[in-house]
Amino acid sequence: MQDSAGSYQISDSSLAQEAQRLQAQMALTWAAEAERLCSWGISESRALLELGSGPGCVTRELLAIAPQAHITALEIDPRMCAMAHDLLADMPPRWQSVNTSIMATSLPDESHDFALARYLFQHLSKPVEAAREVARVLKPGSPFVIIDIDEAWSILLDPPMPGEREQRLVDAVQQALQGGNRYVGRKLPRIMQSAGFRVAHFETVILHSDMIGYEPFLAALAPLSGTANDARAEALRAFLREQQPLVMLQLFMACGIRS
Ligand SMILES: C[S@@+](CC[C@H](N)C(=O)[O-])C[C@H]1O[C@@H](n2cnc3c(N)ncnc32)[C@H](O)[C@@H]1O
Repeated sequence: MQDSAGSYQISDSSLAQEAQRLQAQMALTWAAEAERLCSWGISESRALLELGSGPGCVTRELLAIAPQAHITALEIDPRMCAMAHDLLADMPPRWQSVNTSIMATSLPDESHDFALARYLFQHLSKPVEAAREVARVLKPGSPFVIIDIDEAWSILLDPPMPGEREQRLVDAVQQALQGGNRYVGRKLPRIMQSAGFRVAHFETVILHSDMIGYEPFLAALAPLSGTANDARAEALRAFLREQQPLVMLQLFMACGIRS
C-alpha cells in the first residue's frame, strides 16, 4: 500500500459503524446521483474505475447501473477492501478490488472508459496530481465524475442548531490539518481543468427535509463514531425532534471529459 488515506482516518473499532454511515449517506442521494451518472454515459461503460471505493456499497450500485462494465474498485485501505469482498460475495464477478492509492494506481495507460470518485477528493492533499493519474488511465473522450461536498454550501439548518456551525468549522480545520479540504466542492472544475479534463457538467444534488423527512438525514449525518461524536449525533437528534428545523443538504457533481 503506497501513500496514506490523507484526512480519512478510521480506527479498527469504528470501522463497522463507518461502513453503516457510508451506506446511509449513499442511500440519501444515490437516486439523484445515479440519474446524472446514467445521463453522462455510465451505463455504456465497459471498463469502469471507482476510486476510493470504501466498503463496496457504491460498487454494488455501480454493478446495477453499468451492466456491461468490468469494475475496478480502487481503495487504499485493506480493511475496506476486505469489507467489499464480503459485501459483494454474491454479486456477479464483474469487479476486482485493487488495494492502492489514487496517487499511483499502477493501472495501464488508457485502460478505462469511465471513472468515479465519490467523497474522496476532500481527503486528498494533492487533488490535481490525483486527477492527472486518473486522466492517465482513461481513454481519450472518457468521463471522470467527482462527487463531493463544500462545507460552506453543504448543510443548512433553519433555525440553526446552537454551536453546530462552529463545530463544523472545527471539523473543517481538523481535516485541513490532515491534508484534506472540506471546501473542495467549489474547486472541482479547476481541479479537472488543471489535470487536462474539459468540464462538461457541474451540478448539485439538493435535498429538503420537508420532502423526505428527518430520518434519512439522521442516519447519514451521524458523524464518525467515537464518544464525542456519538454525543454530537444525539444532540442533533434531540434538536431535530424539538425544533423541527428545515434541513437542506447539497452535494456537488463535476463531470470532466478526458481530452
Ligand atoms: C469517505 S470514504 C467514501 C467511500 C465511497 N466512495 C462512498 O462514497 O461511500 C473515502 C474512501 O477513500 C479511501 N481513500 C482515502 N485516500 C485514498 C487514496 N489516496 N487512494 C485511494 N483511496 C483512498 C478511504 O480509505 C475511504 O474508503
